[in-house]
Amino acid sequence: MKIAIIGTGYVGLTSSAVFAHLGHQVFALDKNEEKIKSLKRGEIPFFEPDLEKLLKEGLKNKLLIPTTNYKEAVSCAEIIFICVGTPTKENGEPDLSQVFAAGEKISKYIMKNAVIVNKSTVPTGTTEKMKLLIKEKTDKKFFVASCPEFLREGSAVKNTLHPDRIIIGTDSKFAQEALLNCHKKLPGEKVTTNIRTAEMIKYASNAFLATKISFINEIANLCEEVGANVDDVALGMGLDPRIGKDFLKAGIGYGGSCFPKDTKALHFMAASKAYNFKLLKAVIEVNKTQRRKFIGKVRHILKNLKGKRLGVLGLAFKNNTDDVRESASIDIIKWLMDEGAHVFAYDPKAMANAKVILPKLQICKSAEEVSKNSDAILILTEWQEFKTLDWHKIKKQMKNSIIFDGRNLLELQKMKQIGFTYVSIGRP
Ligand code: UGA
Repeated sequence: MKIAIIGTGYVGLTSSAVFAHLGHQVFALDKNEEKIKSLKRGEIPFFEPDLEKLLKEGLKNKLLIPTTNYKEAVSCAEIIFICVGTPTKENGEPDLSQVFAAGEKISKYIMKNAVIVNKSTVPTGTTEKMKLLIKEKTDKKFFVASCPEFLREGSAVKNTLHPDRIIIGTDSKFAQEALLNCHKKLPGEKVTTNIRTAEMIKYASNAFLATKISFINEIANLCEEVGANVDDVALGMGLDPRIGKDFLKAGIGYGGSCFPKDTKALHFMAASKAYNFKLLKAVIEVNKTQRRKFIGKVRHILKNLKGKRLGVLGLAFKNNTDDVRESASIDIIKWLMDEGAHVFAYDPKAMANAKVILPKLQICKSAEEVSKNSDAILILTEWQEFKTLDWHKIKKQMKNSIIFDGRNLLELQKMKQIGFTYVSIGRP
């Protein structure tokens, strides 16, 4: 099929590369000329495992065509996916201007019977609103649909090639058939529904996962009071298939470009209908306080942070990504610096992005360098490589052998045996 994808962020670029891999002809459009130039060279603007390989394959087969030209991308596309950003405004409301602007731009060039699909995360009713806007601008017959995306950064290609489910929300049989056809080579259950339901499935999914994280974080906080171990609690709970073991890792809370934004947007949506979504409010609140609580632990042990040399391992909002948007690590570092601590940090991928937000942050080339003469080490991102560090060697280099593990990454007993004062989340 001939497909156009508007926006080449994580969702747009991964979808473009995967659809091209499946044999479709894909025009990947972005307004950023530099980005399109680098995509044409086979370079991706962020770290995402396997994506560059797939991009290069698509370019070589001439099935993936990066472009800034709407006419080129849209005029012969049977399906147009809108994959632009929906950032949060001050009040928690999602800013939909990029979605509507994309709708308006494509309206000039669509061919008859084009299927325009929203993949951006948007409040219920947005796709219908976009339809009305496009209708005002064109006489051509077209259809709309909502196909939300569930890929995770760090495993985006894997998730897109092997989705758990594909949601197709549309009121048109024609659009439904076209979208089933476009996804037919992909596994995963295809759920067909109406547009508003599809839009809601996305928010409900992210909010539920965020709820699992805030729930286990509250259990962790209680474990600390009663002497239980939250990792074992999560294991014991997760073996019940009705609960499931994923997203029950206690820590310093969720970050990234999705959960914080989407929980706030769903809350805003509820409030705008005068619905008091109490549970969601608590999920957001717990996530906020979890970061503060962690700083409290650091203060409790180190007392005055002024002049302390603190080594931070991890800047990204999670492992396997260079993304620092809404990263708990960045917030915590800011607070440590505000209290006068000297922070030295290392991250396998996210140092350049962190430096943009925190220009005064001292960056180190390795975890070993971070540890030298430090008063304590703080583990703030769940990079697996931190697990296999030579912690005996690291201890020798530190001034005080104290570890604050915000991700419960290291083994409790092992750290105690080495002789660390080891503080983690919800573990005695
Ligand atoms: C999330 C969803 O998982 C995807 O399904 C969705 O498509 C995506 O948002 C989106 O809306 O685009 P992502 O933001 O890449 O994906 O990150 P996750 O892997 O979900 O992690 C989010 C945060 O939760 C991270 O900060 C992570 O460290 C934290 N987390 C995750 C925990 O604290 N505990 C856990 O058990 C799991």
